[in-house]
Amino acid sequence: MSTKTRTHETDGHSKKALHYNPQLAQPKIGQEAAEIQPFGTIVKLPNGLSQKVCQDSVERLNQILADTMTLADLYHKHHWQVSGKTFYQLHLLFDKHYEEQTELIDKIAERIQLLGGLSYAMAADVAEATNIPRPPKGREEVPVQISRLLTAHEIVLQGAHASARKAAELGDDGTNDLLVSDVIRTGEIQVWFLAEHLVDVPLTQSN
Ligand SMILES: [Fe+2]
Repeated sequence: MSTKTRTHETDGHSKKALHYNPQLAQPKIGQEAAEIQPFGTIVKLPNGLSQKVCQDSVERLNQILADTMTLADLYHKHHWQVSGKTFYQLHLLFDKHYEEQTELIDKIAERIQLLGGLSYAMAADVAEATNIPRPPKGREEVPVQISRLLTAHEIVLQGAHASARKAAELGDDGTNDLLVSDVIRTGEIQVWFLAEHLVDVPLTQSN
């Protein structure tokens, strides 16, 4: 290990030699090592649930996570690309729903981790795993945007209902509560707010 010497003026008269190692502040970048937990495995934590139950819940939650992350992305795409007379209200509504879905994503991902599993994190892995159809890159009309969102919501909700029932059956009350109180409740309200935009009623004069 090499050191360098520099002089330091302490009181204007005496000079003291200080030694320092120029490597000390150098970040050690580009490090590599094997994973400490491969994806799909469970670390047993003292959470009152068996490893088998945790494994089952983690697999189901990861599917709901991938679909929820895709739903949130769809909201962001439509928040940016929306057009037409209802631009302002939909731009804000899509953003509100996006934020709410983002909160759910964190709750689902952290539940997977606290069950000893590993959550999906990267977009490429989510794209492979999701059951939600991929939209085109281009801009679509408002009714098509809303229809896509409703389809995506239904996929998440169907998965959440089935997984909530399974979690209750297995005694995983925390997963059941997350799915019912957060994923299902939030999804149902968002579906309502979206679906009412597709009712064709007159704005100023009745039929
Ligand atoms: Fe924005």
